[in-house]
Amino acid sequence: MLKGKRIILGISGGIAAYKSPLIIRLLKQKGASVQVVCTQNALKFVTLPVLETLSENSVYLDVFPKNRAYSTEHISITDNADAMLVAPATGNVIGKFASGIADDALSTTFMAFDKPVFIAPAMNTKMWLSPIVQRNVKMLSELKHILIGPGEGDLACGYAGAGRMSEPQEIVDSLEAFFSSKSLSGKKVLVTAGPTFEKIDPVRYIGNFSSGKMGYAIASVLASRGAEVVLVSGPVSIAADPKVELIATESAMQMHQACLKQFPKCDAAIMAAAVADFRPADFSNKKLKKENTDSLTIKLEKNPDILAELGSKKKKGQIVIGFALETDNEVENARKKLNNKKADLIVLNSLNDAGSGFMHNTNSIVLVDRTGKPIKYPLMSKTEAAAIVVDALEALLNVKK
Ligand SMILES: Cc1cc2nc3c(=O)[nH]c(=O)nc-3n(C[C@H](O)[C@H](O)[C@H](O)COP(=O)(O)O)c2cc1C
Repeated sequence: MLKGKRIILGISGGIAAYKSPLIIRLLKQKGASVQVVCTQNALKFVTLPVLETLSENSVYLDVFPKNRAYSTEHISITDNADAMLVAPATGNVIGKFASGIADDALSTTFMAFDKPVFIAPAMNTKMWLSPIVQRNVKMLSELKHILIGPGEGDLACGYAGAGRMSEPQEIVDSLEAFFSSKSLSGKKVLVTAGPTFEKIDPVRYIGNFSSGKMGYAIASVLASRGAEVVLVSGPVSIAADPKVELIATESAMQMHQACLKQFPKCDAAIMAAAVADFRPADFSNKKLKKENTDSLTIKLEKNPDILAELGSKKKKGQIVIGFALETDNEVENARKKLNNKKADLIVLNSLNDAGSGFMHNTNSIVLVDRTGKPIKYPLMSKTEAAAIVVDALEALLNVKK
């Protein structure tokens, strides 16, 4: 899908620029041609000969080159490209892009570029969470630029948290998904993602470790294939693809209501949220106090089973795909879930596989359907796993490619 595509790779001066050569390699392996445009500061982290050798192209660096005639290269390279990817995007260039500043080769090229732009931010957590960066990112997203990540994890500065550039493979997968065929145009798909928070009192809740990454990746792949996507999400700290309609919920009851409302309008539902089975039977309007008691018992009552309700009661020809996270008798339990909830497919992820399940950027999934043997896939990025789930949905919907 990237074969023959002409990609401008913008590189700015963040530590993650040391990974940009790998992005060039991956794009070239997919058959794309790469034109690098970088800031002067990017060259503090990666060298010109590496970028030129791997891209097999000169690097556009200077709007006013010293030893050459002035040109309008910032315009001509945009005419010859299909997409622009900025990875890493520093807080500084994100600010310039959002504010309309064009004072170097990269920001000037961005301003002149009128085709899809992908932005992979990378910075220290404190920078990423600063209100200014968040405002700028939101603005770029509203202008339909496509944000990739950032992910969470160990950062080069010694911090751990949000701000880590998405892995090169994930970034290239996102571009590939964007250029893939629009096989799902005309289809509407409901996706659920993230955890649910079940309130105990105004300051406490029962939750789980779901990050929402798998469901958000599925929503993004569906949208890239032309589907209309409604994403019902629990509380997460990641941004949704701007092409999807996001319905933010908090509790299982809210998610249940939103799904019941959306499902009749959809051709399929992919239920990737980790919905709490139980919620506190009583919600205290006041913060529970620890004084005068050595223990606390919270009575729980059952939440509605959204997957079962859609699969066995509400389904009118729609395809319903559920997720299962098991710790033992995995395939057997997934099969039970498939039958009991009348789902068409269960995507099993195991907590026993390293790098799989909650929080990780990777997953190893097993597809369990009504007919065949379970199909186990190796550990891969959540974007790749999402593409496999969407391929399976297409097969169930009988979509012609
Ligand atoms: C060692 C080091 C690492 C840095 N890493 C980042 C980074 O990951 N993200 C970021 O936004 N800025 C980072 N900075 C700060 C930028 O380099 C600085 O804001 C610079 O002006 C960005 O220039 P540019 O956006 O024009 O490339 C780093 C600075 C240093 C000294």
